[in-house]
Amino acid sequence: MEDLQKRFEGFIKPGSREALLLRQIHPERLPHHVAIIMDGNGRWALRRQKPRVVGHRAGAKAARQIVETAARLGIPVLTLYAFSTENWKRPQEEIEALMNLLREFLRKEVETLKRHDIRLRVIGRWEGLDAAIREELHGAMAETATNTRMQLVVALNYSGRMELVDAFRHLYREARERQLPPEAITEALIAQYLYTADLPDPDLLIRTSGEMRVSNFLLWQIAYTELYVTETLWPDFRPAHFFQALIDYQRRERRYGGLGTAALP
Ligand code: IPE
Ligand code: IPE
Ligand code: MG
Repeated sequence: MEDLQKRFEGFIKPGSREALLLRQIHPERLPHHVAIIMDGNGRWALRRQKPRVVGHRAGAKAARQIVETAARLGIPVLTLYAFSTENWKRPQEEIEALMNLLREFLRKEVETLKRHDIRLRVIGRWEGLDAAIREELHGAMAETATNTRMQLVVALNYSGRMELVDAFRHLYREARERQLPPEAITEALIAQYLYTADLPDPDLLIRTSGEMRVSNFLLWQIAYTELYVTETLWPDFRPAHFFQALIDYQRRERRYGGLGTAALP
């Protein structure tokens, strides 16, 4: 068994709670794709009687640590839900603060991404964001385009239903041009028109802050994803919480509608 501890040298203290949890993770059964709904920044700030933006700042810091943790673990794809299409309903001030934080995150994170061989990708109608952000995103994606250890997928101005609308529009156009018969439309074909076309479906979806809903995230892709909801607020989510989620995931039996070991005597 490969030693995961080694990959965390200098990042996690030997003998710490994190190190003990890390020991319980089977490196050969790690999920290929983990998606996270990073929720609870506002509540975290409220509990401290601070403005919501303080929570978002703490949330960005938590995200940076989790990205590095996922890369060290050797998880091939990590998707973070950073801004939903519905989040435009929030006060202008909060939206601006979030966008500024995103730019800051990108500027600070690019070096870490390069150091850990992580490729940055973006999903959502992110072309609808401000020019300054788009530029930053283009730069970060170009600078990390050839990295192969992990793909960090950030969902920005993302909506699962919108993704399906975009896919159907694109597919309809192509089907008409190529005169495809209805039978040519298969699950595999539809999947090729999603923003996540070349990515595996998430094996594990983590949501922080206790809300039991998917909030329009990766609707098609999570058909058989294992869900893990924790009461921990996103700014408090640390490598130890991540390890706990992975340990929980590795204890589950995925049946995909079959009988699994339930049918064994
Ligand atoms: C998640 O935290 C961050 C974004 C949605 C951008 P929230 O801002 O939703 O925090 P709560 O849910 O209000 O606590
Ligand atoms: C989901 O959180 C979106 C992100 C984490 C970016 P929300 O806070 O927007 O979700 P709801 O409104 O509680 O469903
Ligand atoms: Mg929320």
